[in-house]
Amino acid sequence: MNNEWIYIAALDEIPRQGARVIETGHGDIAVFRTLSDQVFALRDHCPHQGGPLSQGIVHGEKVTCPLHNWVIELNSGVAVAPDEGCAQRYAVKVEHMQVFVAL
Ligand code: FES
Repeated sequence: MNNEWIYIAALDEIPRQGARVIETGHGDIAVFRTLSDQVFALRDHCPHQGGPLSQGIVHGEKVTCPLHNWVIELNSGVAVAPDEGCAQRYAVKVEHMQVFVAL
């Protein structure tokens, strides 16, 4: 692993139960913030048909895709059964209220 931590935003710049999208050479990445201020990062591409997960509704540690309502686990990117698939996840850390993603 040779990942580099990339600064994304201040925690408060990401809406609770929402997401912020960053464009990277790896494609768009959605950085989610839960109601309890946990932060997760997934490729902004639903494993079903590529819907923008960043525009979905965050509930608990899951997000519901805005296109066809698949539910994706934020900590793993895995679709909740009976749906099957996985959005790529990225490691995230929050230091001094600042959010970083490992790319
Ligand atoms: S593209 Fe996400 S549920 Fe269909």
